[in-house]
Amino acid sequence: MDTNTVICPGSFDPVTLGHIDIIKRATKMFDKVIVAVLVNMSKTPSFTIDERIAFLEEALSDVDNIEIVGFSGLLADYAKERGAKAVVKGLRAMSDFEYEFQMALTNKKLNPDLDTVFLTSDSQYMYLSSSMVKQVASLGGDISFFVPACIHAKVYERLKNNSNQKGK
Ligand code: PNS
Repeated sequence: MDTNTVICPGSFDPVTLGHIDIIKRATKMFDKVIVAVLVNMSKTPSFTIDERIAFLEEALSDVDNIEIVGFSGLLADYAKERGAKAVVKGLRAMSDFEYEFQMALTNKKLNPDLDTVFLTSDSQYMYLSSSMVKQVASLGGDISFFVPACIHAKVYERLKNNSNQKGK
């Protein structure tokens, strides 16, 4: 049987409620969702690949048709290897559009069978980003509105005294 498999890629450093909303909506639209966590980020991540995957697994433990994996190299190649027919990404504001459009077209050029599907961010998460979560936590602010409740304490503990994040 032909399974409609898609990929939700990202750094997830750390995962936010905005990411969870997009991933869960994708699981309702497609047979299987591969959440692909970028291993080799250009900037040093705050959380290791194992931590980023563990947070996603905890926050998505109630979802069946999902697989959470680390990936490195080109997303277009990884999608082909896994038989995924589309990349699913969330779009927050117009400011996301240019970069996301560039990535979508690059991926399409590298793998012509791969489409990108954009889901509009839920209005309550329009402003949310991992870097904003890191900055607020490092300055002692409340991040409970921004990250899943089950990982909130762990994320906060790690970030709250991390002066490296301040100002980033
Ligand atoms: O959460 P992010 O940082 O917006 O995710 C970016 C990601 C992981 C989707 C993007 O950096 C990516 O696909 N990286 C893999 C390398 C690649 O394929 N680059 C060429 C197309 S942009």
